[in-house]
Amino acid sequence: MGFRPPHLDPKGSLAVELSERADSMKLKTLVRPLLLVAATAGAAAFAQAAKPAAPATPAAAATQKAVIDRALLTVFKALPARFEDPKNPITAEKVELGRMLYFENRLSKNHDVSCNSCHDLNKYGVDGKPFSPGHKKQLGGRNSPTVYNAGGHVLQFWDGRAPNLEEQAKGPILNPVEMAMPSEARVVETLKSIPGYVTAFQKAFPGEADPVTYNNVGLAIGAFERQLVTPSRFDKYLSGDETALNDAEKLGLKKYLEQGCQTCHNGPAIGGSLQKLGLVLPYQSKDQGRFDLTKKESDRMIFRVPTLRNVAKTAPYFHDGSVKDLQTAVKLMAQHQFGKQISDEDTKHIVTFLDSLTGELPKSYIAKPKLPASGPKTPKPDPS
Ligand code: HEC
Ligand code: HEC
Repeated sequence: MGFRPPHLDPKGSLAVELSERADSMKLKTLVRPLLLVAATAGAAAFAQAAKPAAPATPAAAATQKAVIDRALLTVFKALPARFEDPKNPITAEKVELGRMLYFENRLSKNHDVSCNSCHDLNKYGVDGKPFSPGHKKQLGGRNSPTVYNAGGHVLQFWDGRAPNLEEQAKGPILNPVEMAMPSEARVVETLKSIPGYVTAFQKAFPGEADPVTYNNVGLAIGAFERQLVTPSRFDKYLSGDETALNDAEKLGLKKYLEQGCQTCHNGPAIGGSLQKLGLVLPYQSKDQGRFDLTKKESDRMIFRVPTLRNVAKTAPYFHDGSVKDLQTAVKLMAQHQFGKQISDEDTKHIVTFLDSLTGELPKSYIAKPKLPASGPKTPKPDPS
């Protein structure tokens, strides 16, 4: 079976509609010709500004105090408490409904797959598998990214084909290899047959004559996801607390900045824009990223830069889930994006820094809610 992008609207209309808008966003975020120059120039300037004495051994390096120029940290942003979007105001009622829908197996054809199956909130929003089994255990062609801090991404999906979380959430429910519901109408019919949901939609969307709609499913789930944030010690460090990172982590951060990783992995999510995978050394993959969606040559191998928050917990890595450990992922990045080999030692330092990006899971926020009971007309599970 060839590569099939998951979450595509069976009619492909979602993808077509979004591609133009996403393209214009991409142009703002992707300045490829400048990128390499910026990365190299940035790294060179850094090396000049802060020449570290070459440490004799890794042990010596770990205890060496790294001095970080705080001006270089402005490319990052501390995590907000929530990623707000005025188009979908977050209310307690909407979040409560969104949480239920996130855990709702009855949004899948055979009542056995929910968002949480592939994006387990207790496991940093991933399932730890290269590809995730959906309806009838079918596998999609791309690795499941984390939902934590995804609100900080400029676009959603590995190819950026959804502009926001609300639109994204409407994809998997109808995707034949994921939740496999036959139609939007079937989803609405199912929800309307469950009295508890009718009440929950009325509360979440007050004043709407017919609040149980497919679009409102997306809005509710989106509102819930906008508060899936995991602040870490790095945020304390960004806000000025020098003691929030230890010396080994600061040294790793320094190596990260020297390499120029922040040219792509930046902002509040430490990732999130569209960039080329294999900027210097081509990356072999059947999946051509955004090109498979738009068929534009300039989109070949363009992928959405993943967040590095919690990256120590979200293996395996890359869109193809091909890399099991973080050391290898970091080395491959240096090779493919900079054409550089980085030493085992520097790789370890960077990984030590990346470990500090592991945040706190919002335990009570993600507790599985009690789901409302089916009614007499609720469709039965369909394994076909
Ligand atoms: C069968 C597994 C599976 C299920 C079920 C599933 N997803 Fe996903 N999810 C994926 C995969 C795989 C991708 C990446 C697909 C791509 O980029 O083409 C993804 C991408 C995403 C993204 C984009 C994150 C990013 O960084 O771009 C979000 C958000 C998301 N899913 C949320 C959800 C929600 C909400 C649900 C339930 C309505 C859901 N998913 C159901 C597997 C799944
Ligand atoms: C030119 C932009 C760019 C630069 C520079 C860059 N990255 Fe990436 N990074 C990406 C893209 C794009 C991906 C997604 C690749 C894919 O499609 O699988 C990625 C993926 C990753 C991943 C895998 C994350 C996951 O969840 O799968 C890690 C880890 C990573 N980068 C770390 C780094 C480090 C460390 C550096 C510096 C040595 C770096 N990156 C430099 C663009 C970049």
